[in-house]
Amino acid sequence: MTDRGPDRRSVLRAGAAITIAGFSVSVVSGCGAGKNNAGTQAAATVNDLSDQAKQAIAAAITSGKVAVGKPAFLADAQVIVTEPTRGQYRVFSNICTHQAARVDQVNAKGNLVCSLHGSEFDPATGEAKVGPAGKPLPSKVATVSGNQVTIS
Ligand code: FES
Repeated sequence: MTDRGPDRRSVLRAGAAITIAGFSVSVVSGCGAGKNNAGTQAAATVNDLSDQAKQAIAAAITSGKVAVGKPAFLADAQVIVTEPTRGQYRVFSNICTHQAARVDQVNAKGNLVCSLHGSEFDPATGEAKVGPAGKPLPSKVATVSGNQVTIS
């Protein structure tokens, strides 16, 4: 058998691999993938709270750092604690479901705001009120009983 270089099948396989690799790169850096990754990241922050994060949340609630209309942005814990109505607390991921920037502000309407593209989220439900984000911020409920704060 003589060495004639790569046959047609080998070239096609190589081309397919290059196409797939190029597609993967564009998907990872594309806006659509950012949405998917952002949602997954956001959910992880509230579904897998560390003991340190739980303590920070409890401290924010019991110290009065969070109040009606005054959310507490706990950057180290990657969460926001709100008190939508007196005595009822919510814990939200601070990772924007659009492209994973930080939701780190509250506006005059009381909505939680991502400063990167301006998405606004309801402080009671996490619902995206103003886009570009379309998905809500994942959340948990924090309940206070005496000195005990339970996050569920
Ligand atoms: S990352 Fe785009 S609005 Fe938050």
